[in-house]
Amino acid sequence: MLGWMNEFNSLPKGSLFCFGLGFTCARLARRLRERSWTVAGTRRHIDRSVQDADSIPVHAFTGLAPMERAAQLLADVTHIVASIPPGEYGDPILRFHEADLRALPNLKWVGYLSTPAVYGDRQGATVHEDEQPNPGSVRGKRRLAAERAWVSAFDGTGVSVQVFRLSGIYGPGRNALEQLRAGTARIIDKPGQVFNRIHVDDIGTILMASMARPAHGRSYNVADDEACASGDVIRYAAELLSMEPPVPIPYDSAELSPMARSFYAECKRLDTSRIKTELGVELAYPTYREGLRRILDDMEAAA
Ligand SMILES: NC(=O)c1ccc[n+]([C@@H]2O[C@H](COP(=O)([O-])OP(=O)(O)OC[C@H]3O[C@@H](n4cnc5c(N)ncnc54)[C@H](OP(=O)(O)O)[C@@H]3O)[C@@H](O)[C@H]2O)c1
Repeated sequence: MLGWMNEFNSLPKGSLFCFGLGFTCARLARRLRERSWTVAGTRRHIDRSVQDADSIPVHAFTGLAPMERAAQLLADVTHIVASIPPGEYGDPILRFHEADLRALPNLKWVGYLSTPAVYGDRQGATVHEDEQPNPGSVRGKRRLAAERAWVSAFDGTGVSVQVFRLSGIYGPGRNALEQLRAGTARIIDKPGQVFNRIHVDDIGTILMASMARPAHGRSYNVADDEACASGDVIRYAAELLSMEPPVPIPYDSAELSPMARSFYAECKRLDTSRIKTELGVELAYPTYREGLRRILDDMEAAA
């Protein structure tokens, strides 16, 4: 099962550029930097603390105008992760930089970070990547268009574009334990509603495995092995912390952002066999239980 690791270790060093150096990309970039890769990325707003905290070079890209000095910053890039959600004008990276990216001499691999919203509501059924996407939300429709735009931008080139449909991301710094301690954890009660999660480091592992086994146009469900209700995760985290879980809030009366409401309106379980059979990945955190326990252990060790 660790075959991909050997393949990855034998890969030549690369140069990763992340459009949207957020939660997922920053963790991945740090792992690759430890392997002596060159890493850099973009954020919308840059201040000294962002630069100093991580020492990963960060460049400004607001999605509203081209990135300055793009040709120079991207010249040696071999791998790109696109982590910026599409907006009303489509994918902002392709909008301003498609021609720049197609002209890069060393680019080999692109990972587009998408969402299971492209499948639409499946009323709790299990969805495999081969099933036809059928987005019901604006968010899902924009994502599907962006997935297709990224793949077709590199059709017929030597660059391999993969699509990763990420379930609910959690990890150190973004998780139910910290929400409970901060008093911000909520249980949204919608009977029958479940979804998968994914630990941020399992995402990194899956992306690296794909770099070792590129497959142009391939989509991957990036999820753990247990879809469940949001309350299950919060209650488990509360148990770990010996705290009382919050009182459930009925979905119909919950104050939710439009994005959260569209998220909870749909229900699906993700089939995760492809990341295992095709990419050879063994999840370090097959359910939220292993993930949260590890996060708590690390928090306690650091305290
Ligand atoms: N969170 C989840 O559970 C989840 C689930 C499925 C899919 N996704 C998607 O997967 C990707 C990675 O998720 P994540 O949670 O790691 O992302 P994240 O932490 O929110 O990071 C997103 C990055 O994109 C940048 N960005 C956002 N909107 C932008 C815009 N309009 N123009 C330019 N830059 C923009 C952000 O800039 P700043 O750093 O300046 O904010 C940030 O660096 C995202 O596309 C997300 O939508 C997330």
